[in-house]
Amino acid sequence: MSIPTEIANTVVDPKAYSEGVKLDAAFSMLRRDMPFARAEPDDVNPFWLVTKHADIMSIESQPAIFHNGDRPTVMSNKEGEQFVRAVTGGEANLIRSLVSVDGDEHKALRGVGFPAFTPKKVGALEADIRAIAREFVDRMLAMGPECDFAKDVAFLYPLRVIMTVLGVPREDEPFMLKLTQELFNSNDPDLNRDGQVGTPTEIALSLQQTMIDLENYFENVTTEFRARPRDVVNSVIANAMINGEYMNRRQLMGYYIIAATAGHDTTSNTIAAGFWALAERPNVFRQLKADPSLVNGFIEESIRWATPVKHFMRSATADIEVAGQKIAKDDWLMLSYHSANRDEDVFDRPFEFDITRKFKQQLAFGYGPHVCLGQHLARLEMRIIAEEILSRISSFELAGVPQRTISNFVCGPKSVPVRFTVN
Ligand code: HEM
Repeated sequence: MSIPTEIANTVVDPKAYSEGVKLDAAFSMLRRDMPFARAEPDDVNPFWLVTKHADIMSIESQPAIFHNGDRPTVMSNKEGEQFVRAVTGGEANLIRSLVSVDGDEHKALRGVGFPAFTPKKVGALEADIRAIAREFVDRMLAMGPECDFAKDVAFLYPLRVIMTVLGVPREDEPFMLKLTQELFNSNDPDLNRDGQVGTPTEIALSLQQTMIDLENYFENVTTEFRARPRDVVNSVIANAMINGEYMNRRQLMGYYIIAATAGHDTTSNTIAAGFWALAERPNVFRQLKADPSLVNGFIEESIRWATPVKHFMRSATADIEVAGQKIAKDDWLMLSYHSANRDEDVFDRPFEFDITRKFKQQLAFGYGPHVCLGQHLARLEMRIIAEEILSRISSFELAGVPQRTISNFVCGPKSVPVRFTVN
């Protein structure tokens, strides 16, 4: 039995993610009554919608059967998928990055970036990251008693951290922020390239243009770092050898682009969502002030609460039965991390923001061989900014109505007006 069309349309509707209530009601119903079912929305090719935590972990543990790169890795509408295949000469994804490759190619590419993002390597960055955090907190406090926490702090601090790690100069940060927002918010006229709601073809064309801008930028980066290598991640990417050869152009571009985009917007959304939750809960704020050791619980709960990457897609490489459903070769599956992180079988009272929750495997970073490469960096930078802010303010509350981005992929708050008192 297929999911009712109205529910299937909600799950793919970018606006539903900015509004929240209807979407959560849809996912709650699906987890209860149709946890693994066929969705056939009006404008999107059919897919299996996977909403339960255990089913997503099981699928992500079987990468040979569930591939990333044969169909689009991110949900796209019918025209978008056709357009991408036409401009790439048949590939399913506009960029060839870690998330859109499988098997040996994925292993080899992941091996290039992996050493730069281990807990030990990112732990060594703590003092540098704290210095960056202090700069942004100083600015925030100077703006007091009010600021837009999303725009003035949460979007800018992770951007500075990742660009420093990659070796992108400060003057290029606004350009990187703009292109990242265009990429992840193509349906949001406040942030997309054209400033309006486009048709599927217009959106695909704009996304292609954003990619071209990013590729033109990174073309020079390869030349620069091959001539003068440095101890930064973009230099590692530019100079990496796989089987005795540099990565090809498509692999290089995919690498730079995923690191420069996934490396900040996700973290920004999580910081903004966590502090939004705090601004609405004076008792949680007091709890955290009284016991700073709860900061790790605050961060873990913020990650679960935000789940800024709403889904990734997989496709079946063979006919197979999962959760009692017969999946055919090439069938497409949506793994809803948003739903998994509200799964009642794993999280008690999932719609409550509880920083004392017992740590459980939440799925915001995914699972299996594609699990987020930057998760240790993300956790570290989130803990540091939380410590720096919380030690310097004595009250924190909303000063207006927050707004979320209109996107069904990477999304979260785009405006969080707050009022605070400095210690
Ligand atoms: C992959 C989430 C921060 C780089 C992923 C995936 C998710 C995710 C869901 C896909 C996992 C899967 O398919 O199982 C997040 C969240 C973040 C975050 C929620 C912050 C709160 C970062 C940062 C970086 C980063 C700071 C820095 C470079 C990557 C890369 C991949 C990835 C390179 C591809 C890994 C692969 O396919 O092997 N992330 N991410 N992410 N993330 Fe993150």
